[in-house]
Amino acid sequence: MNYKNTEKVARPDHDILPVIADRYSPYAFDGRPVERAKLLSCLEAARWAASSFNEQPWRYILAERTDEAAFATALSCLLEANQAWAQHAGVLILTAVKRTFTRNDKPNRVAEHDLGIASANLTTQATALGLAVHQMAGVELQKVRLTYKIPEGFDPSTAIAIGYAADPDTFDNADLASRDKGPRSRNPLPEWVFGEKFGSPADAVK
Ligand SMILES: Cc1cc2nc3c(=O)[nH]c(=O)nc-3n(C[C@H](O)[C@H](O)[C@H](O)COP(=O)(O)O)c2cc1C
Repeated sequence: MNYKNTEKVARPDHDILPVIADRYSPYAFDGRPVERAKLLSCLEAARWAASSFNEQPWRYILAERTDEAAFATALSCLLEANQAWAQHAGVLILTAVKRTFTRNDKPNRVAEHDLGIASANLTTQATALGLAVHQMAGVELQKVRLTYKIPEGFDPSTAIAIGYAADPDTFDNADLASRDKGPRSRNPLPEWVFGEKFGSPADAVK
């Protein structure tokens, strides 16, 4: 049985898809590997993300925990604070972006934006499959570049942990478990959806 942390389910002000409400970034993972078929569904969802000029500038370096050496290498590229919990994930992904458009070699100023869409697609698919995803900026970028020989024109960016969320009450690391307690919060719509004057709420959200 997969654990569901009901405390973390969003309490939205307006109707949203359950798969979006259910998603959260757990610290407690139960150490189970991710089934290949589910992992492939997650990657396929990322594949079908929209991108500027259909460039698909995202690149993923994949490490499944069933491959101990590969998993350890990927884990070692995370900041220590992230290694503490990500070691229990089933899959680690290190992400990178291609900096220029293949069609004309011009800079792609939205490469990270499109990586974000791909990773959001992956996250939504994973949530629908009962998996949990925790994304990270806390990555040793230079270590990723050297370890995986990232070529010129590409930049390492983020990391993604995928796995099965654990009940924080049964998690042996109390500090990490405490981070999985309490509701999730968000800025209300009027604080960031503006009308004609930047900083003033749009009519629709007043
Ligand atoms: C691009 C990105 C980078 C993040 N970096 C880290 C990180 O390095 N370490 C960490 O513990 N959480 C990280 N997070 C998780 C956020 O802290 C989390 O998404 C946020 O607090 C909202 O919580 P929720 O995802 O449970 O709704 C990151 C999330 C994103 C999207």
